[in-house]
Amino acid sequence: MSEQVLRWRPQPPFVAEGSTILTHDAGTVLLHLDDPAAAEALLAAWDAGMTADEGEDWFLARGAAAMAEWLHLFDVLTHSGRLSPSIAGPDGTLVRLLRHPGDSGAYSGVPDPGDDALVLGTGVIVTRQADRWRLESPQGRAVADVDDNVMQAVVHADSSARVMSMPRALLREAGILVHAESTDRPDRSIDVWEPHDRYFHWRTRRGGNPYVVGATYPLRDRMPPLPVSDVPAHDLEFDIAAYASPEEEVLGMSVAEAMHARASTRQSPSPMTLGQLADFCVAHRVTSTRHMSHDVEYPQSRRLYPGGGASYEIDLILTTRGVGDLPAGVWWLDAERVVLCRLAGDLDHVEALFADAMVSTGGVGEIQVLVTYALRMGRNSWKYEGMAYRLALLDAGVLYGHAYLVAAALGIGICGLGNGDSAALARVTEAELVSVAEVMLTGAR
Ligand SMILES: Cc1cc2nc3c(=O)[nH]c(=O)nc-3n(C[C@H](O)[C@H](O)[C@H](O)COP(=O)(O)O)c2cc1C
Repeated sequence: MSEQVLRWRPQPPFVAEGSTILTHDAGTVLLHLDDPAAAEALLAAWDAGMTADEGEDWFLARGAAAMAEWLHLFDVLTHSGRLSPSIAGPDGTLVRLLRHPGDSGAYSGVPDPGDDALVLGTGVIVTRQADRWRLESPQGRAVADVDDNVMQAVVHADSSARVMSMPRALLREAGILVHAESTDRPDRSIDVWEPHDRYFHWRTRRGGNPYVVGATYPLRDRMPPLPVSDVPAHDLEFDIAAYASPEEEVLGMSVAEAMHARASTRQSPSPMTLGQLADFCVAHRVTSTRHMSHDVEYPQSRRLYPGGGASYEIDLILTTRGVGDLPAGVWWLDAERVVLCRLAGDLDHVEALFADAMVSTGGVGEIQVLVTYALRMGRNSWKYEGMAYRLALLDAGVLYGHAYLVAAALGIGICGLGNGDSAALARVTEAELVSVAEVMLTGAR
């Protein structure tokens, strides 16, 4: 292991489309090769670990025109930070960096005397990926993939093995290892962000990380898309649409009036009627469905509120008590038919969900209907890579705004509940529904 080499590799992923090689994320065309077979061969070589030096030889062997393409490619790769250093030993790659966008500065891999005191930086996330470890730091310059030996040296802050000095130096330059004393330095941005929040933010938006974030349809080849609605197992149906008012009556209040009437209400003087709840359900219905999105077959729906990618991955679950003739229970709203499907009529379940919601109101809330926003993650993750859950949280916020205005217009008391227990819903339904947020309806205002 004594012979170590610092080398440079183009940073994946690359995809071939005809004779063009594109980067995934920015959609930048890096290179045109007239010969599609040559493009495929180049990709295969990249995947097999071709270095920049080997790339130059590859193009050189194809003549002057190809060499000009290479010089252009090298220039683009360098300035977009897409050439990344790796350290290889006789037994394979020890460290490989994926640079964050915008990081086009130099790496030397040269150890310095202070490297004896290097430790993992605050908030570095470590995950196992196939046969390597991935180290990610939102504050760093690059993501690092390291082998078991380097990982051991990192975790044990082991500076004794001289053979590790070059990998450790590179990880220091990448901002993944830091000098022990520097972790004490006050850093306001670190103080106000918990590590999981910072990582989630950094990882799920484009620009700061080397990952693909966007609509790439990552599960397209593995499974069909989930349908617009997927009715869970239920023991009773209740046709709540039959109790709804004619639409022109419901929409009698102007948006301006609804905005001014809107307020968080934690108790109500009287219960809401079944008609009011029916109107609330109608305001969350599917208005039409369609099957398309550019060239990909993907079932979508339209509703009275916007939804990221028209996925509408959030279903409404209503836990009810004392609403007219509607039996107390936990109901899934079939938004296509405006029918309630009962998941559980067990009153213990109902009470447990209400009790949990009460906690978020500091014990003062009087809840007639708990609305749980239940996520079908597959609706988003089939289409979106790197951002599926973030989108669901954005959509939950949209639903909040919609529900507040609708409740104001209908004279229903409503209050958001910022904290909920996901396990509570999981105890009620076997369906693959994950509760991500709740609002409570308190009665008539
Ligand atoms: C995302 C969100 C979460 C909330 N969480 C709670 C909560 O857990 N408990 C509560 O009593 N009120 C909660 N509220 C209500 C806010 O406290 C309320 O909107 C805020 O105090 C402003 O009052 P207003 O809505 O009457 O204008 C929440 C509101 C939002 C938008």
